[in-house]
Amino acid sequence: MKRDFISMFNLNKKEIYEIFDLTKKLKESQQKGVAHKIFQEKTLAMIFEKPSLRTRVTFETGMTQLGGHAIYLAPADIKLGTRESVPDAARNLSRWVDLIVARVFAHKTVVDLAQYATIPVINGLSDLEHPCQIMCDLFTIIEKRGALESTTIAYIGDGNNVCNSFIAASSLLGFTLNIATPKGYEPNNDYLAKVKTATLTDDPKEAVTDADIIYTDVWASMGQENELEQRKKTFMPYQLNKELLKSAKKDYQIMHCMPAHRGEEITDAVIDGPASIVFDQAENRLHIQKGIMVWLSK
Ligand code: CP
Ligand code: NVA
Repeated sequence: MKRDFISMFNLNKKEIYEIFDLTKKLKESQQKGVAHKIFQEKTLAMIFEKPSLRTRVTFETGMTQLGGHAIYLAPADIKLGTRESVPDAARNLSRWVDLIVARVFAHKTVVDLAQYATIPVINGLSDLEHPCQIMCDLFTIIEKRGALESTTIAYIGDGNNVCNSFIAASSLLGFTLNIATPKGYEPNNDYLAKVKTATLTDDPKEAVTDADIIYTDVWASMGQENELEQRKKTFMPYQLNKELLKSAKKDYQIMHCMPAHRGEEITDAVIDGPASIVFDQAENRLHIQKGIMVWLSK
């Protein structure tokens, strides 16, 4: 049966660690200059309804390094759901290419693509989840700290797609997740109800107190730009700045999925400071994308 990666809940712990192991090997090969062209003659279709730097470039570059080819399909190229239905697009692509990654507004779009495609479909971000990002982040934390089980992660800011995927991952892998969001901006209720490893507060100081990893994301996600001015007022107490980090313990590390809106959710001093691992994290998007694609194609 073909496998898809639409939600963190699609994987179990064993499968997640299989992808981490593959990713580690692929990263080592890449760094040593050892060819690993296991996707020769294979093609990835990349459907994007929203902008992207990291997701687009790392999937496309990853496919090149694996010996395959990627086709970028911008919103105006295929007009998914307008020029033709999502199921028809999925059925067509399944006859030509080997994998699909899709960045969409509505989570249902990527669910429907997976349902009607006969090839693996990967969620490259939806309004509900960003599972490729969280796989990258957890792989990075293991590299930096050795293990996840003993790690406490504080997620500070908007209860968005990134936060939801973190919640799912915390239940699957058993790390502690302390979330701080303003009232009215909490993560998905069903996700929170399902897991016992995540706590929710509206006090960012409380959330960072015991954290090994302190994580934030933009206050207005793609598609919410018209809410930004209002959100800036509500979210300012949640900014990762030197003052808030006085409440954290000594050896914390800072993560951000990026793009970062410097001066909003994070200050220059924090993102460029000695505790920041954001660019190692961003680099790992490349390696984890390759791991996910290879694992799904096995
Ligand atoms: N973190 C992330 O997904 O970045 P892009 O939006 O640039 O792909
Ligand atoms: N929450 C952000 C993540 C960007 C990578 C968004 O959806 O825009």
